[in-house]
Amino acid sequence: MKGIILAGGRGTRLNPLTLSLSKQLLPVYDKPMVYYPLSMLMLAGVREILVISTPEAMPAFQALLGDGRQWGLEFSYKIQDEPRGLADAFIVGREFVGGKPVCLILGDNIFFGHGLGEQLKAAAGLERGAVVFAYEVKDPERYGVVEFDKDMRAVNIEEKPARPRSHYAVPGIYFYDGKVSEIAAAMKPSARGELEITDLNREYLKRRELRVEIIGRGVAWLDAGTHESLLQAANFVQAVQDRQGLMIACPEEIAYHQGYIGRDDLVRLAKNAPNAYGEYLRRIAEE
Ligand code: G1P
Repeated sequence: MKGIILAGGRGTRLNPLTLSLSKQLLPVYDKPMVYYPLSMLMLAGVREILVISTPEAMPAFQALLGDGRQWGLEFSYKIQDEPRGLADAFIVGREFVGGKPVCLILGDNIFFGHGLGEQLKAAAGLERGAVVFAYEVKDPERYGVVEFDKDMRAVNIEEKPARPRSHYAVPGIYFYDGKVSEIAAAMKPSARGELEITDLNREYLKRRELRVEIIGRGVAWLDAGTHESLLQAANFVQAVQDRQGLMIACPEEIAYHQGYIGRDDLVRLAKNAPNAYGEYLRRIAEE
C-alpha cells in the first residue's frame, strides 16, 4: 500500500497565520501539523509516500521531510497548482499510484487512540474496493456524512449536508484500490468547482465496493483547520504527552518501533535536536 498526504489548499480560514506559511506546517504544540497524519501512514505500515502541496509551500515541505530515508521512508513530491478538490490528488498522483492500492490522508487530520494502528493496518491490506471510516461528531454538517441502515450498512454519503442524516462524519483518511485514479479522472467537479472525495466514495458505494468502518469514541479525531480547533489540538497533545511522558506522532520513534530504522540511526537523529525532543529520542533508544 502506498500513501498520499494532501497538504494543499490556501488555508484561508487560518489567515493571517497561513499568509506565508502552509497550514500543514503550523505547529500543533511541539511538532509541525503534517507529522500527525504522516505518523498514521507509518502506523498503517505505509512507507512509500507522495506529498502533494502548492507551488509556494513545496520547498518548505521538502526542507522538513527530505527524501524520507532518515525515517526509513521514501517521499516523493508533486505540486497541485490549483485547489481542485481532494479527489484530484489521485489525478495529480496518478503516476505515483500506478494502479496500486493507495491510502490518502489529509494533512490537517489528527488522530490519537488505542487500537487505531491495528485498524489502519487491517485497512491497508485492502486489494479491491475502498475503505473509509465514520466517526461520531457534534457538528456533522461540516463534513462528509454517512447514513446507515438499521444493520449499520452504509446506504448514502453526503458532503456537508444542511440536514445531516446521522452524526457520523467521514474523517480524512481513505483507502482505495488501484482503480482510484481512473475513477477520479472520470469525475465531474461539484457546484463549488471541486472534485469531491465524497463523490468518489459515492461511486465506490454505487459499485458496492465501499466498506465504511466505525472509529469508536475511544479514538480522538481532531481537525486543525480553524483557530479554535488548532488550539484545541495543541492543548490535547500537550495534556496527553505531559501526563504520559510519551509523544504523540513522533516519526523517529515510530520508525524505530516499526523497525524502519535501527538504534544507531535513532541516536544519530537525537543529536540533531539538542532539546527535549532529542532527549526523548535518546530515552526511546535506551529503553
Ligand atoms: C473534507 C471532505 C469531507 C471530510 C473532511 C474531513 O472537507 O470534503 O468529506 O469529512 O475533509 O476532514 P474539508 O475539510 O475540505 O472541508
